[in-house]
Amino acid sequence: MSNATITTASLMALKQRREPIACLTCYDAAFAQLLERAGVEVLLVGDSLGMVIQGRPTTLGVTLDQMVYHTGCVSRAATRCLVIADMPFMSYATTERAVETAARLMGEGGAAMVKLEGGAWLAETVAQLARSGAPVCAHLGLLPQSVHQLGGYRVQGRDPEGAERIRSDALALQEAGASLLVLECVPSALAESLAQTLQIPVIGIGAGNRCDGQVLVLHDMLGLTPGRAPRFSKDFVAEVGAGTGFAAAVEAYLSAVKDRSFPASEQTLA
Ligand code: KIV
Repeated sequence: MSNATITTASLMALKQRREPIACLTCYDAAFAQLLERAGVEVLLVGDSLGMVIQGRPTTLGVTLDQMVYHTGCVSRAATRCLVIADMPFMSYATTERAVETAARLMGEGGAAMVKLEGGAWLAETVAQLARSGAPVCAHLGLLPQSVHQLGGYRVQGRDPEGAERIRSDALALQEAGASLLVLECVPSALAESLAQTLQIPVIGIGAGNRCDGQVLVLHDMLGLTPGRAPRFSKDFVAEVGAGTGFAAAVEAYLSAVKDRSFPASEQTLA
């Protein structure tokens, strides 16, 4: 593993040489160090922290101040990984607000990229952020911030119209200047075809093993999520054996992402 800092250019290079990109969510300095040492390339300070850290039923109550705080905790500890910060619910409802949000997440929080959820309607916002020097990760498929509009946490893009909408949104966001795409809970065939079509890397979660990389919520892959974890996730602590430690579980995740044995068929949605 090289000690070079991971940049958007490094992620493009990984895509070009077909080496899957390993990403995990991360919310604090201790785990940021552990994940960086294991060789994870991208740390996502996800607003999933509202659910796994704060115990909320959805991500909607997470504030920008909280995202800036957790992004700072992660970015101070991880100096090599590329740190992406989620823009919380409604913090990018207008382009002006999005620019102010990105300024805080990158300036105060130290993120190297910001992530927002939504389709072609965000193209102008993505373009303005990119022009202002803020690399953008788009997020399509299941959009947790839109859970009330979607009517639940459901697989997206199963029908031809839904799949076509995701495809055209992805192309519009790439065209607008997005540097990366997270694709959540879509059929693996759709994710594979998007990874082949787009120039930018596509990171999947519940999107099969033919994406350019994988992301999981850290607490799900460490078996720390109370209740039933999502079907597309996997408890890597259970796999390596409880008592072996979190570092061994993260190493097992990393190697399973790199050799595409994760996600396997049982974690893949059709
Ligand atoms: O908030 C988050 O953790 C995310 C991942 C589920 C991709 O957006």
